[in-house]
Amino acid sequence: MSPRIVPVPSSVPGVDALWPLCVEIAARRRSRTKPQDVVAPLAWDASRGFSLRGMWQDDAIELFELLKPILDRPREGASWVIGQLGQSLDGYVATHNGDSNCVNGPEVLTHLHRLRALCDAVIVGAGTAAIDNPQLTTRLVAGEHPVRVLLDPTLRLSPTLRALTDGQAPTLLACDARRAAEASKRLGADQVLGVNELLDASGALNLRALLNALAMRGLRTLFVEGGGVTVSRFIAQGCMDRLHLSVAPVLIGTGRPGLRLPPNAVMRDCPRPPGRIFRMGEDVLWDLDLRATGDLYPKFR
Ligand SMILES: NC(=O)c1ccc[n+]([C@@H]2O[C@H](COP(=O)([O-])OP(=O)(O)OC[C@H]3O[C@@H](n4cnc5c(N)ncnc54)[C@H](OP(=O)(O)O)[C@@H]3O)[C@@H](O)[C@H]2O)c1
Repeated sequence: MSPRIVPVPSSVPGVDALWPLCVEIAARRRSRTKPQDVVAPLAWDASRGFSLRGMWQDDAIELFELLKPILDRPREGASWVIGQLGQSLDGYVATHNGDSNCVNGPEVLTHLHRLRALCDAVIVGAGTAAIDNPQLTTRLVAGEHPVRVLLDPTLRLSPTLRALTDGQAPTLLACDARRAAEASKRLGADQVLGVNELLDASGALNLRALLNALAMRGLRTLFVEGGGVTVSRFIAQGCMDRLHLSVAPVLIGTGRPGLRLPPNAVMRDCPRPPGRIFRMGEDVLWDLDLRATGDLYPKFR
């Protein structure tokens, strides 16, 4: 009889042990208690932020490295914004009629839910809200739902959208303050964030005004989940600190574009933000630090 091979049980902790610690850090930041008091398996140091203590499985080490910039956010201070886009090899985030279901694989989807769980609020543009009717919850992972923010300056969205009616988590429809009374009539005042001068005289969106209004509500660690127009506007206005760009091995052809940013005439002027690469199943996630080289588009702010 051939010997039975019994796998050696691993006592080295993995992602299942790490994730609850990440959730705990986010919960402490939200409740303004010290995130750095968290727990023994993580160490904290004022200059280097969090680090892992002892032995961890490789996938836990990689997840920790990916999430560390968010985990290290202080509980007070300036707003900090992370964006994401899942795109095809040819740079689109959805087909031409708006279908973005499964651009990326399941690993990226889980990652989006993790980002939601670690941030105070998740923001989507009106196009995404109208086409996807998303729930914007953390249902694929353990962790608190963020406040859901639908960016709809001129009140084009239907009040019957899921995020506005399902009661799963607080939702704010962010509109220009001049439309706030009308929005409150439709949705109830508690679901409306009227932002002073969200639209300037020419009708252009002022995202700094949105960040200030969210900060007044204690929402400072922010996740912009899409779509391409909205993420591009945050970057062009210098309102995004980091971007998770997940590239899937698929060709969409002609679809809804991902990043569309101000042009540069010569290559040497094109910004090259430093990035790290993470494998996510079949997809490749670029973690881009948009602040490392200063303002990417100073003249467009
Ligand atoms: N793969 C991904 O990671 C990902 C993530 C999120 C969303 N998506 C996909 O991206 C697409 C949407 O992205 P996007 O860049 O077009 O828009 P977006 O960034 O979500 O929203 C920006 C724009 O929405 C416009 N808008 C378009 N249709 C609208 C409508 N029916 N009602 C109200 N406002 C509307 C607005 O107006 P103007 O046109 O007047 O400027 C606005 O400026 C969807 O197909 C969604 O499925 C993909």
